Amino acid sequence: MDHAVEREFRVFPDLAALSRAAAEESARIANESAQQRGRCTIALSGGHTPRELYLVWAAEYRQRIPWQEIHIFWGDERYVPPEDPRSNYRMASETLLESVPVPPANIHPVPTQLASPKEAAREYEMAMRRIFPGAWPDFDLILLGTGPEGHTASLFPHSPALEEKARWVVAVRAPAEPPQRISFTLPVLNHARNVFLLLAGKEKQGIVERLRANPEEQSLDIPVSLIRPAARAIWFVDEAAYGQA
Ligand code: 6PG
Repeated sequence: MDHAVEREFRVFPDLAALSRAAAEESARIANESAQQRGRCTIALSGGHTPRELYLVWAAEYRQRIPWQEIHIFWGDERYVPPEDPRSNYRMASETLLESVPVPPANIHPVPTQLASPKEAAREYEMAMRRIFPGAWPDFDLILLGTGPEGHTASLFPHSPALEEKARWVVAVRAPAEPPQRISFTLPVLNHARNVFLLLAGKEKQGIVERLRANPEEQSLDIPVSLIRPAARAIWFVDEAAYGQA
């Protein structure tokens, strides 16, 4: 799916402001999805940037998002136990899930307790296929970040996983700590109804500059450049990442 679409950058003074804007936009999506389809499926991202959004959701959106109708997934996860400080599940639990009433049955962590990353990826995909009947999952919202070198989820530059056209979830070896990870594949990311990319800080300026200079670029060098969902992607960036600070 490589139709060229303009990237929609929304620029904010800082991480707090971009997180509040993303929270507001996500509330609109969540209420609309719940109203139209009786549920809203969200895939969270890990790392540091989305923490602020999760804290805003927990503090200011308890009543403004229909948490009982939300399903929570992870677009990628490190192959560590859920209580490990590097776990994306642990980060989301501490900042968000312990504070909002998502039914436990609607929280779908990657089963990293299984014997191998491959098994965890296979099991996660089977769990997703029980929830999404179509050829590809149509997440209502997928959150993504990007590393300074352009990885997104756990899809790193020139990773074989970038060529995956059939599986929804794969085990990858990342050039990052910890190396063993489980990640959604590009077709899953690009079949989402909405994708929010959250970028903050000077270290993301290089990626933003390159994407703004080459809006049509879709390169294995920069996996995040391959994010072109069928529906809508909004880049929530702060001035430091956009090069305005
Ligand atoms: C992860 C994330 C990853 C993250 C980027 C940016 O598991 O680490 O899913 O893709 O979005 O590495 O991380 P920061 O927000 O910490 O810069």
